[in-house]
Amino acid sequence: MNLQRKRVQSDSNLKLYISKARIRQRVKLIAREINKDYKGRIPIFIGVLNGSFIFISDLVRELKVDTEIDFLKLSSYGDSKISSGEVKLLKDLNCTIEGRDIIVVEDIVDSGLSIKYIRDLILSHNPATLEFAALLFKKGLSKLDFDIKYIGFKVPNKFLVGYGLDYAQKYRNLKEICILKN
Ligand code: IMP
Ligand code: MG
Repeated sequence: MNLQRKRVQSDSNLKLYISKARIRQRVKLIAREINKDYKGRIPIFIGVLNGSFIFISDLVRELKVDTEIDFLKLSSYGDSKISSGEVKLLKDLNCTIEGRDIIVVEDIVDSGLSIKYIRDLILSHNPATLEFAALLFKKGLSKLDFDIKYIGFKVPNKFLVGYGLDYAQKYRNLKEICILKN
């Protein structure tokens, strides 16, 4: 048994939800779709910090198309499990968006507030195209009036940690995605 799996099993707050193997397989499939959809183009991947840092790094390494990468940082949940309902920009983009193909990479879409904010921000810079890749999507919560083209897994309304997702900055380095109990 590897150390990471041991860590999940010995922490009574964690319940394994998506294994490392299933994540890897899903990330590969998403990359395959992106390779097909963006053939001959050079999209800019915009990772939303901090949660997407592992997903984006695994995703871009599976790509055959050339890519550029930049990051945005939004105000987080702080140490809470519930969104403050207010989004603030903590780190803006450094790249030029105008006329480019943009793919925003998110760890999880919950209320949809963050992704709506990002969409408005990016559209104000006139990209050629804009799509979203979210590793996780909480079912039935967000009422988005636009599509998220690449979704890893649709998940129930539970608080999830691991593979980049944290609770009070903890658990980001778990290789699996777990439900945080309580
Ligand atoms: P939204 O604005 O409510 O859609 O929330 C989006 C952000 O909140 C995500 O990018 C995460 O950083 C964080 N978040 C939402 N749900 C969870 C969760 O279950 N675990 C960890 N972080 C979460
Ligand atoms: Mg996030």
